[in-house]
Amino acid sequence: MPGMIDCAGRVAAITGASAGIGAACARAFASAGMGVALLARRRDRLEALVADITERGGRALAVEGDVTVDADVRAFVTRTLAAFGRLDVMVANAGIGFHGTLDDTTPDVFLRLMDVNVNGTYYAARAALPHFEAQRQGHLVIVSSIAGKRGTPTAAAYSATKFAQVGFAEALRADLVGSGVAVTTVLPVRTVTEFHDAIARDFGFRVDGRGPTQSAEHVARCVLAAVKRPRPEVYPYRASKLLALATVAAPGLIDRFIRRFARHRRPA
Ligand SMILES: NC(=O)c1ccc[n+]([C@@H]2O[C@H](COP(=O)([O-])OP(=O)(O)OC[C@H]3O[C@@H](n4cnc5c(N)ncnc54)[C@H](OP(=O)(O)O)[C@@H]3O)[C@@H](O)[C@H]2O)c1
Repeated sequence: MPGMIDCAGRVAAITGASAGIGAACARAFASAGMGVALLARRRDRLEALVADITERGGRALAVEGDVTVDADVRAFVTRTLAAFGRLDVMVANAGIGFHGTLDDTTPDVFLRLMDVNVNGTYYAARAALPHFEAQRQGHLVIVSSIAGKRGTPTAAAYSATKFAQVGFAEALRADLVGSGVAVTTVLPVRTVTEFHDAIARDFGFRVDGRGPTQSAEHVARCVLAAVKRPRPEVYPYRASKLLALATVAAPGLIDRFIRRFARHRRPA
């Protein structure tokens, strides 16, 4: 198809690749012939994924690291280049969630969400972009959320981090017009991953709530499609774009509508 990038032989670095959307992206990219470098804190999970991808004939590298540590993220890019000799795509995906009232959202919680979701994205962009600009091609993919287009009830801190990612990506896209470097924001709705297990592990509660749900594999297919044909924004659940548009047109009305998607806490 004209205008499509042939992914085979290209290399992607993915943060938060030990589970969920990041792991699904790793599998989808590897199936498309891309080399994949995987960053997360749980080395055993990364190594199992690398073994699985390699057994299927793919190329993968596990790098243990924390996205809140700039040196870890820079080392991730250095090791990717050393292993594969190139880097074409950086997926800033690692992220954590939290639900609660503002009273529940202590400064520690707020700063932790900012550190992982916002600073982690910033470090990934800063590590990859100089390389992309020098080679006059590359693609930064930032996994935000529909909560980055419409603040969602019981998620003020999380929504703030996801809006920050959207603004960061928009500004970079404007900076990079004509440079050959693409920036894409991905805006999933609720996705079946370990996201809620991580909330239970980190914060000691589980959440229930309603709303549309999609698989991590579906999100990964949408991300791969955007890597093949870069675009500014990807809504893996297409109808959710209407929520973003309606929020601009009638924010007060949507305040009332969105309340039905509030998450309720229960003990872990
Ligand atoms: N699931 C949803 O409903 C949903 C909806 C919209 C957007 N998203 C976004 O999608 C992204 C991926 O989330 P997910 O749903 O796939 O969750 P997940 O299954 O919990 O995966 C999160 C990944 O991030 C990694 N991670 C967390 N903290 C990290 C840190 N400090 N350093 C390095 N890696 C770290 C985890 O690995 P380790 O624990 O091994 O480090 C894991 O690989 C997030 O940005 C999230 O906000 C999720």
